[in-house]
Amino acid sequence: MKITKVKLENYRNYHYSVVEFDDGITLISGANGQGKTNLVESIVLASTTKSPRTSSLQETIRDGETQAVVEICAERNYGNITLGYKIDSKGDKHFSVNGNEVKKLSEVFGNIVVIYFCPDHLKIVSASPAERRDFMDTDISQLSGSYYNLLQRYNKILMQRNKLLKTERDRSVLLSMISVYNEQLAGVASLIIKTRKGFIEKLREPAKEAMKFISSAKDELEIEYVGARGASAEEIKTELLKALEFNLERDIELGYTSIGPHRDDIYLGLNGKDARSYSSQGQQRSIVLALKFAEMEIFKNELGENPILVLDDVFSELDTTRQRRLYEKMSGYQAIMTGTAFKFKPTGDYQQVIVKNGNAKIKQIKR
Ligand SMILES: Nc1ncnc2c1ncn2[C@@H]1O[C@H](COP(=O)(O)OP(=O)(O)OP(=O)(O)O)[C@@H](O)[C@H]1O
Ligand SMILES: [Mg+2]
Repeated sequence: MKITKVKLENYRNYHYSVVEFDDGITLISGANGQGKTNLVESIVLASTTKSPRTSSLQETIRDGETQAVVEICAERNYGNITLGYKIDSKGDKHFSVNGNEVKKLSEVFGNIVVIYFCPDHLKIVSASPAERRDFMDTDISQLSGSYYNLLQRYNKILMQRNKLLKTERDRSVLLSMISVYNEQLAGVASLIIKTRKGFIEKLREPAKEAMKFISSAKDELEIEYVGARGASAEEIKTELLKALEFNLERDIELGYTSIGPHRDDIYLGLNGKDARSYSSQGQQRSIVLALKFAEMEIFKNELGENPILVLDDVFSELDTTRQRRLYEKMSGYQAIMTGTAFKFKPTGDYQQVIVKNGNAKIKQIKR
């Protein structure tokens, strides 16, 4: 699939801009603070309903304006798609697919599928488990809107269980109600964990291969899901119920639920050691890119067509060999990339977009 057009109205520092995209590689360049990241943010936001930059979407309205509007058009092998995003200063937000406002956010997923990289994603390796769970959840949601609905259901039950743990002083009431919540929670959680394990399973070999490719066979990547044991949803559910029972006294003391998919993690190993504490910054960047490359393959297989790569500032800190390898990997995909300057250009055709003070101009198409 490919994005053909992005239209921004009073979005961040853009007043009004229409950018038409070509197949293949697009290099978005410009000085610091001109609006490169804002432009790619709008693509990610309209296609996933979440901004990688902020959880407060009112921030996306241009200063002094009352509403921001984004429209993204794409071609898929079955037809054209237009996704819309609109937010006003009261915080009222609307997402649409082909002009029809969606009732559930999950309806937006999967229409325009992007694999997104930004330097902040280095946290996937170095930071807390929450970053790794977020990586999985965002990307699985793009392939399956029902997975996103499961997460929402899980969070709702979890909040109810936590409230009970925190506020219920009558022990017999608490014990009888908690077993109802345990059953509900374990049911939904087992489906989430099963899906995540399947995703990690599919990611493992391609990620290993990609890591070899990026590191010239120097680095070996391992990847494991860390959470309840079991392969089938039934097995996982049984494990979770046992663990919820086992941890009940602790949970009552803490006032919240201390086990479950909201606490799970992905183990990333590099050359037999924990990558979190062991890997260098360059290796961390390579690990994240290896995960993204692996996703390219998974998404391609699941969708039956290529996802779109959106890469913000991917080249900083990468030497020319690695940059060249990255370009090689992009062959056949639409790749929209930002950078202050692209010292090293693709060998084939590419499109250049120059961003200056919230204005995006297509400067040239080299052939
Ligand atoms: N709601 C808003 N209204 C107006 N301007 C905004 C808004 N939100 C952000 N900006 C401005 O957008 C600019 C940042 O744009 P962006 O992050 O896209 O820059 P960039 O081109 O990616 O720069 P860099 O090369 O440093 O990454 C900042 O100058 C910021 O003040
Ligand atoms: Mg930027």
